[in-house]
Amino acid sequence: MELADVADDITEVLLTQEQIHAKIAELARRIEKDYAGENVLLVAVLKGAVMVMADLARELKMHVEIDFMSVSSYGMSTESSGVVRILKDLDADLTGRHVIIVEDIIDSGLTLAWLRANLESRGPASLQILALLRKPAAAKVDVDVRYFGFDIPNAFVVGYGLDYAEKYRNLRGVAVLAPHVYE
Ligand code: IMP
Repeated sequence: MELADVADDITEVLLTQEQIHAKIAELARRIEKDYAGENVLLVAVLKGAVMVMADLARELKMHVEIDFMSVSSYGMSTESSGVVRILKDLDADLTGRHVIIVEDIIDSGLTLAWLRANLESRGPASLQILALLRKPAAAKVDVDVRYFGFDIPNAFVVGYGLDYAEKYRNLRGVAVLAPHVYE
């Protein structure tokens, strides 16, 4: 779906597909250098990070394994509660693996902080984070993001995996959702 297809539902286009792909290519080149000769496992949280995962994994000119987990922060609101529950765990054993968490967006950072601690406890050889988007509040959270894409304003955004009520995930770019959609 193109940004133009939902023009009435968005107030501002933040990132086009081209800008996102250029950034992912940049991050992929860094990962190839940092992990030369290593066996890397990319881990993404469903469903938001699916698009980042698909594009990053294909952009990398090295073998990687991919795995997914599904977590839920309680509630249906647009704000993170920080209470996380695992709906589907990883298939892979992380012991001794070089793991990169692939994230779509960091808002409060609560989800990521929880995820990092959870995966760290499984004994990986290394654990780093890639996040495509970051909101202002995330800067206050002490989560070290090695590979990072774009800072965005503090607004509710959709597209490129990010949803509102399960819609807009298949939008190619990232845009600010118009308040009339959720108010
Ligand atoms: P955090 O725990 O506050 O950092 O929230 C992280 C999760 O909340 C992300 O992985 C998204 O699934 C969701 N999220 C945060 N901000 C947005 C947004 O603007 N649009 C859609 N989903 C969001």
